[in-house]
Amino acid sequence: MNVLILQGSPRANGNTAWMAEEYRKAAEAAGHKVTLVDVSHKKIAGCMACEYCHGKGNGACVQKDDMQELYPLLAEAEVLVLAAPIYYFTLSAQIQAPIQRIYNMQKPPKVTKMALLASSYSPGVYDGAICEYHGIQSYWGVEDTGIVTAKIDEQKTDATKTKIEKLVAAL
Ligand SMILES: Cc1cc2nc3c(=O)[nH]c(=O)nc-3n(C[C@H](O)[C@H](O)[C@H](O)COP(=O)(O)O)c2cc1C
Repeated sequence: MNVLILQGSPRANGNTAWMAEEYRKAAEAAGHKVTLVDVSHKKIAGCMACEYCHGKGNGACVQKDDMQELYPLLAEAEVLVLAAPIYYFTLSAQIQAPIQRIYNMQKPPKVTKMALLASSYSPGVYDGAICEYHGIQSYWGVEDTGIVTAKIDEQKTDATKTKIEKLVAAL
């Protein structure tokens, strides 16, 4: 399958980047085509709610920032993996902006499956992120292949790597 991973932590050697990379390695080993994008180092603004995309723009977003690189990838993706740290009990702002800019497409047209990778310091802080993830997944009518979370003592461990490999096996 054509897999697109959006990585939303600004820490290049952090836990979320590690989780995204483990997913990429396992998916490539299983024969999938994988694109991993570090959206946290892209210039992607929030949606302006101008409705240009639903009117004159005929699906195109009026904002010409780095989201324009993501739109062709989203148009072809069959699996969308969201990878993000928890900031203040929800997904990081760096991943919220590209998610909300998918407004022009309503849904990435070929996506049939999703997964969530999330990391935090503490336990018990994932409800907001999981609620958002399930909201998007059910709004789009796509399959949830699973969620892997990693709090501080679960980060970069073999146990977390095994959980990520199980998600990939569900593709
Ligand atoms: C702005 C900010 C807000 C955070 N908020 C939370 C939080 O609400 N709950 C929590 O457990 N950790 C919180 N953290 C810690 C990160 O979620 C945690 O360090 C995570 O592993 C970082 O992932 P990374 O290594 O991919 O950057 C926060 C960190 C930052 C920088």
